[in-house]
Amino acid sequence: APDISVAAVKAHLTQLQSIATANGGNRAHGRPGYLASVNYVKGRLDAAGFTTVVQSFTYGGATGYNLIADWPGGDVNDVLMTGAHLDSVTAGPGINDNGTGSAAILETALAVAAQDLTPGRHLRFAWWGAEEQGLRGSTHYVNSLTAAARAQITGYLNFDMVGSPNPGYFVYDGDNSDGTGSGPGPAGSAVIESVIEGYFAGIGVPTRGTDFDGRSDYGPFIARGIPAGGTFTGAEGTKTSAQAALWGGTAGARFDPCYHAACDTTSNVDDTALDRNSDAIAHTVWTLSAGSGGGPG
Ligand code: PHE
Ligand code: CA
Ligand code: ZN
Ligand code: ZN
Ligand code: ZN
Repeated sequence: APDISVAAVKAHLTQLQSIATANGGNRAHGRPGYLASVNYVKGRLDAAGFTTVVQSFTYGGATGYNLIADWPGGDVNDVLMTGAHLDSVTAGPGINDNGTGSAAILETALAVAAQDLTPGRHLRFAWWGAEEQGLRGSTHYVNSLTAAARAQITGYLNFDMVGSPNPGYFVYDGDNSDGTGSGPGPAGSAVIESVIEGYFAGIGVPTRGTDFDGRSDYGPFIARGIPAGGTFTGAEGTKTSAQAALWGGTAGARFDPCYHAACDTTSNVDDTALDRNSDAIAHTVWTLSAGSGGGPG
């Protein structure tokens, strides 16, 4: 897998910040900064050769949009999806939440195109709308699929907050090996978890599990039995002294002090966490796309 350039990921964050600044300070559902964000990402994908579709839906009296991008080729009965929510809350520009996940998967998609990857599985990327209103865009997408189209999706990777300024290195606990939170995810989630964990082990960064409870856009996928996984660097929670010993940073401080706040700007990102997670995403997409997800085809 390629080494994703964190400078390139950060250049996308600069663009998202500019979009928020030009549109009342946010990129929220129903606000002009959201559609401008969709158009920015779509423009980059179209130029790289992706087939893109903007899916609209209505929530709370406003039109929301999901951006879906398919990379031509691969087994369409064995689709590996990678997604991130592109909307912010109304309080701020949403650069860590979730410009980071959106930019990291965008740069991974652009790397797929740059390498002209010919994966075994079909690759589809998604940028979700209205996550902050309760996973509305991803739920709309999953519910809008026919049973046959849903069965073609054999895995889903989710990235929501991957550059927190006081970061933890969390991997969704798909096998419930931590025994906390909800139970294990659909069969196959454990494989995704182990591939992600393998990347971090290879760079010598310890990881910990985090609840696989549906608190981001993988929720509607696991509710339909689709294996899923992903990473997270922490939100409103406080880093413990044990976690600070493991990862550095500040014990007793929040992972993201600007969570859902006006100060979630381009200053609210840890470059090392963003770089490691971006590289983990590419590693996971490359590794999982080569093989079979066990789809019907
Ligand atoms: N979905 C949460 C938000 O956007 C962030 C989050 C992601 C929390 C993953 C827990 C786990 O605000
Ligand atoms: Ca990198
Ligand atoms: Zn949020
Ligand atoms: Zn989020
Ligand atoms: Zn686990």
